[in-house]
Amino acid sequence: MTLPSLHIGNLIATIPIIQGGMGIGISLSGLAGAVAKEGGIGVISAAQPGFNEPDFRTHTMDANLRALAFHLQKARETAPKGIIGVNIMTKGQNYAAYAKCAVENNADIIFSGAGLPADLPTFTMGTKTKIAPIISTAKACRVMLKLWDRHHHVTADMVVIEGPKAGGHLGYTREEVKIHEHDGYENEILHIVDVVREFEEKYKKKIPVVFGGGIFDKSDIEHYLSLGLDGVQMATRFVATKECDAAESFKKMYVKAKKEDITIVQSPTKMPGRALINPFVERIRQCRQQVNNCFHCLKTCDPRTTPYCITMALIRAVRGDVDNALIFCGANAYRIKEITTVQRLMTELST
Ligand SMILES: Cc1cc2nc3c(=O)[nH]c(=O)nc-3n(C[C@H](O)[C@H](O)[C@H](O)COP(=O)(O)O)c2cc1C
Repeated sequence: MTLPSLHIGNLIATIPIIQGGMGIGISLSGLAGAVAKEGGIGVISAAQPGFNEPDFRTHTMDANLRALAFHLQKARETAPKGIIGVNIMTKGQNYAAYAKCAVENNADIIFSGAGLPADLPTFTMGTKTKIAPIISTAKACRVMLKLWDRHHHVTADMVVIEGPKAGGHLGYTREEVKIHEHDGYENEILHIVDVVREFEEKYKKKIPVVFGGGIFDKSDIEHYLSLGLDGVQMATRFVATKECDAAESFKKMYVKAKKEDITIVQSPTKMPGRALINPFVERIRQCRQQVNNCFHCLKTCDPRTTPYCITMALIRAVRGDVDNALIFCGANAYRIKEITTVQRLMTELST
């Protein structure tokens, strides 16, 4: 089967694959530009994108906004005709500043999960930047779309469903993750599609729905398309590519991983997250890690009680200090056997 293209209003991705945003620094311009160039949608993470800037500790937001603008421009140079998005976590501080920066620097689309991005339309209204909430339940989808309908008189340009096998933070409790992983989660997907159809009807516009979480190969993609979805969001497989912006040792952790190395950890966001078991994860399970320097990255984190500093844990990860870092991954990371290129991966997934 030839995969259909993904239409989001006037934007057309020739391959219906979105590379999910991965923070901190795992998906910047290197990965996003390469995916967009191959016809997918490349997504830059707005989680502390300035971590490598010299003034990151002293002028964190200046560094982050400068870096976000830089990576958007660089990805655009790599893929002048491609679709480039930005992922902004709703639970993060300074949401408005990141959203405005993405719009000013011509992001094609903003993806926002980890909470309900209630105010997102205020920043994109009247611009070409499209908006896509990332949700995990039909209930959250309805609340989100109703909020935008009531307060902003707009609806989503696309909806991303993130399932229980995804990497990074998960939109469920630990117990729900276990239940959903086993019951296949497909009923929930169909309920979400029904909710979206109501808003399509009201706004007389097509709202594509894509699914992400545990998608590994072309047959998985075909399966979700057969359920009536318009495309997929994939992240874990893109980590094991030459173009991924993380250090080589981070990528090698995926290649080495066995099924039993993948676990659920509690994150300072108060959401569970999926990650690889390593000495860092074993340490945080035993005792709280001292937080000496708070980056004020999360609305929900209290440095006095947080089990560890998530900014530092994720910066050490992207830099390759893999024993002292939080290595987020999806449930199927253990199936990865080699590091490839984005071009080869996109060909494998689409032909
Ligand atoms: C290393 C890693 C970091 C991630 N970081 C983020 C993030 O910052 N924001 C977000 O919305 N999702 C994040 N995710 C979730 C992905 O964007 C994606 O939706 C999900 O992992 C898809 O499942 P898959 O990895 O099994 O393909 C992350 C995933 C991984 C593997």
